[in-house]
Parts: sequence; structure tokens; C-alpha cells
Amino acid sequence: MTTTTSQPINDPLTDHEYDGIREYDNPTPGWWHVIFLATVVFSFFYAIFWHTSPLAWTEQDAWAQAQEEEYAKLFGSVGEMKPDQATLLQTMANEKFMAVARSRFISTCAACHGTDGAGLAASGVNLTDDHFKNVKQIEDLYRVITVGANNGAMPAQESRFSVNERVLLAAYVATLRGKKVVGGQPAEGEVIPPWPAASPAPAPEPK
Ligand code: HEC
Repeated sequence: MTTTTSQPINDPLTDHEYDGIREYDNPTPGWWHVIFLATVVFSFFYAIFWHTSPLAWTEQDAWAQAQEEEYAKLFGSVGEMKPDQATLLQTMANEKFMAVARSRFISTCAACHGTDGAGLAASGVNLTDDHFKNVKQIEDLYRVITVGANNGAMPAQESRFSVNERVLLAAYVATLRGKKVVGGQPAEGEVIPPWPAASPAPAPEPK
């Protein structure tokens, strides 16, 4: 295909010729050179800054910082939670905590237990029925999540999640109980007594 231009080209030609090919003398414009040189100069300082400056940060630093901020936002006023019955029952009722726990559950636990907790074939057990293998009371959820079960078939999460995050996860798993999701894994283990009722919030102090 040949391209045609409506106007004749009057640009001067360079004085060299290779295999019959001639070239117009169209040097790159000055502003182009300026930008190019600016990028060269910039890259020099850029490399020095990121490789040597104590002010530079890595993606890992940024990630850790974001995690810390997120953590402070979430647990700022709470301090370290106790993995006891009362705390777990209260945490189950906290919608914000349960939303956070749900997303952790989906990213970490769903690979074996399914997004709804009903268990995937050949890996995780069904957490939505009343049968449990390693759990007799609600605190045991925290223990199983922390140390794992069945020689690592259920992996320990101690190094992965903080105490508070494990409390949230345990409370979240407690909320899954009784949902009896259809199509989940068959019941395993024994039927355990229902979770105790949450103690009512402490009455305000009389003045
Ligand atoms: C690699 C697969 C896998 C992952 C990931 C996994 N689990 Fe498990 N989980 C299992 C298996 C298998 C069991 C049953 C262990 C047994 O047979 O005693 C189990 C058991 C449990 C139990 C006890 C259930 C019972 O009947 O005693 C709880 C609670 C639990 N998992 C919660 C979690 C949570 C929360 C997460 C995410 C932080 C998680 N699991 C991630 C495989 C997994």
C-alpha cells in the first residue's frame, strides 16, 4: 500500500544515501531533547534515592505500615482481646468485627472450609452444623484455630494472625454454626451443646 500526501514535502534531505534510500533532515525538536535529558538526570537521582537514602521505603514497608494503620483503626480502642467465652460471645454480635472476620475467613479458610463454611470435599470439615470433632465449647474454636488439628490437616494460624484476629475468626466460625448450609460436607464428630447466651452488656453505673 502506498500512502499519499496531499502536499509535496519540501524538507531538506540529508546528504547520505543507503541502498538508494534517502532521509529527510528532520531532527528531533529541542523540547524533545530537553525532556530526554531531564529523564536521564532524574533517573540518576531516582536511583541514588531509592538505593541509598534512609528516607526511601520498600513495598514491604508500605504494606506493613498500611497493615498497622488498618489494625489500629480496627482494634485501636480494644487492646488485646481475651480468647474467653464472654469475649467471643460479645464479638459474635459485633457486626464490624464479623465483617472483617468474614473477609479473613474467605481469604484464608475458604480454600478448605468453603466460602460459606460448609467444607470442601477432601479438605475442610463442615463448620455450619452442630457436629464438631475438636470443639466442646466455644473457646475451643480459638484453640483449634491457633494450634491447628489433626496433625496439621487443619493448619495452625498462630504465626499468621494476631490474638485479636484469631478471636475474630473464632467468633465468626461460631456464627456459622447452625446455618446448616445445603450441599456441605457430611457431619463429623459429636453434637455439642449450644453456645451459651451472650451476657447482657453491663448496666450503666448509677450516679
Ligand atoms: C488446609 C485446609 C484448611 C485450612 C486452610 C483451614 N482449615 Fe480448618 N480444618 C481443616 C480440617 C481438615 C479440619 C478437621 C480436622 C480434624 O479432622 O480434626 C479443620 C477443622 C477446623 C475446625 C474445628 C472443626 C471441628 O469439627 O472440630 C475449625 C474451628 C476450623 N477448622 C477453622 C478454620 C479457620 C477459622 C480457618 C482459617 C483461618 C481454617 N480452619 C483453615 C482444614 C483446613
